[in-house]
Amino acid sequence: MNPKALNLIDQFIIQADQALRTLVAGNDRSCERPSPAMQTQATELSDADRKLSAALMRVNHTGEVCAQALYQGQALTAKLPQIRLEMEKAAEEEIDHLVWCQDRLDQLNSHTSLLNPLWYGMSFAIGAGAGLISDKMSLGFVAATEDQVCKHLEEHLQKLPADDQQSRAVVTQMLEDEAKHAQTALDAGGYRFPAPVKTLMSLASRAMTKTSYHI
Ligand SMILES: [Fe+2]
Ligand SMILES: [Fe+2]
Repeated sequence: MNPKALNLIDQFIIQADQALRTLVAGNDRSCERPSPAMQTQATELSDADRKLSAALMRVNHTGEVCAQALYQGQALTAKLPQIRLEMEKAAEEEIDHLVWCQDRLDQLNSHTSLLNPLWYGMSFAIGAGAGLISDKMSLGFVAATEDQVCKHLEEHLQKLPADDQQSRAVVTQMLEDEAKHAQTALDAGGYRFPAPVKTLMSLASRAMTKTSYHI
């Protein structure tokens, strides 16, 4: 078999492995940093509060699934290896977020969204598609997405039950990291998307947050 075909098969296996490790519950991923939830006092939540926290953390988990897919798609098509390196730290922090959200959902006796495979596929296609256009475009897309995520996380900090200090600690650290990721993508040469494009993106992300909140 020629090396080009082998390379394609390799890439397919690597991408399929990453997708499975992101999507399959009980994945073997470990995080670099311990969950911020571990540094706070666990409190007993009412049933209503537990359900509210679980719904919000499920939305956040889906956001992290999308981040995995977006960064994977971007790394696959990034033209400059230096861009890949610059975004690597952000991609590693996204794994922490994914694991923290999954752990918190487990602690809340809840589940991840059933629609995650769909969102993973769409985000991967967008990340890879933007990367095929240019590195500037894909980095711009990462920056605009991270801005969007920051807005959601700020909203969630308003909505999360005051007693749920553990979820709050996770979301607070994520918010700090996502703001850094947006800046990293812009510093690496990302295109600043105009406001109308950002509005379209926020409409699309509403579909994700609305469905993940419930299923
Ligand atoms: Fe994240
Ligand atoms: Fe991020």
